Amino acid sequence: MRAEDAPIVIGSAGRRLYLIDWFRTAIETLGLNSRIIIAENDPTSAASSYGDEMRLLPPYTDPSYADELLRLVDEFEPRLLLSANDYELMHLHVDTNIAIGLRGRGIVVPGVSPAWQKGCADKLHMSRMLDDIGVRTPRTVTGSELDRLLDTAASSDEFVVKHRFGSRSSGLALVTANRLEEAVISSAKTVRRRADCTDVLDEVIVQPRAPGREYGVDIVSSLVDEGVLSGVFARRKLRMRAGETDKAVTVDPELFRDVAGKIARAAEMSGLIDLDIFLDDAGTASVIDINPRFGGGYPFVHLAGADVPLYYLSQIFGLRIDDTWRDYEYGVVAAKYQETRVTARGQRSNDSARSAVNVA
Ligand SMILES: Nc1ncnc2c1ncn2[C@@H]1O[C@H](COP(=O)(O)OP(=O)(O)O)[C@@H](O)[C@H]1O
Ligand SMILES: [Mg+2]
Repeated sequence: MRAEDAPIVIGSAGRRLYLIDWFRTAIETLGLNSRIIIAENDPTSAASSYGDEMRLLPPYTDPSYADELLRLVDEFEPRLLLSANDYELMHLHVDTNIAIGLRGRGIVVPGVSPAWQKGCADKLHMSRMLDDIGVRTPRTVTGSELDRLLDTAASSDEFVVKHRFGSRSSGLALVTANRLEEAVISSAKTVRRRADCTDVLDEVIVQPRAPGREYGVDIVSSLVDEGVLSGVFARRKLRMRAGETDKAVTVDPELFRDVAGKIARAAEMSGLIDLDIFLDDAGTASVIDINPRFGGGYPFVHLAGADVPLYYLSQIFGLRIDDTWRDYEYGVVAAKYQETRVTARGQRSNDSARSAVNVA
């Protein structure tokens, strides 16, 4: 096998089949013979049968996860290992030395430094990390420190309540100052408690509502020279659904470039990360959330012309491409829709129609 035909592994793609499609297109564009190996936990997920080969991995919480992943790596000797799942990324980069070990074997594992990976999961910690590098972010307190926000608040001021370790808008509420306490208690009821949590109110955070409009911004760093920014892509969110951008319009990323450069450097980032940013009337950017992976907003800029999978492959295989991978058209509106595919046949159906009849 030629070195440039080594396979790539895409982990936990789940519903994001477009990523597999776009990596496949990039492989063809570059004239490679790489295969796409899918690593999934669920053998009948939409992505499982959508690559060239699939290997089942146990849940990342299972003690055999690392061994199984290493077995996969020994079998395929891939050049790239991507994961689209925040918990799996935490496990690879923070809870274990797996990412470091893989990198030591010459496998590219995009991501941010362990400290930033941890910060991306903890919205309180993230606000402090952003403050420290001079990136504006809403003032953030926990649910047990409301006085610190309310002391200076007018009764009409609006606040956002959300889970400190949340995702997909978990525990989210928008309320005025007089309803804040009640909203924090209500949000705390649905918190997923961590083992070392002592006060459940510390698992909820409160921020002033950021002024302006919300954007999703993908920023991309070199995969071989970490922290060096190579692309910025932005879209204004037009509609959200189940915590994901459902409709958006692409925009000029210029106003986000400064913030992007600071985060890329500080986070020692390689590859793509996804930011939620509010832009006020004066054009000042305030970052409210970071997802250190391909997020649900990437399709909006890809469909407008960006090609990050092409950039990834050109970098990991040392192939020259021109800069057009980062060009995209502004003003392109796109909306998500749903699709369904068969992922297994011949399954025993004793848990389906008959049991439904029995229950009835
Ligand atoms: N401080 C804030 N001001 C205004 N809107 C906010 C604020 N925080 C969160 N939101 C809204 O809630 C959504 C989810 O919050 P976010 O911090 O991105 O958490 P998640 O990890 O669930 O995506 C955001 O996309 C935004 O629309
Ligand atoms: Mg978000």
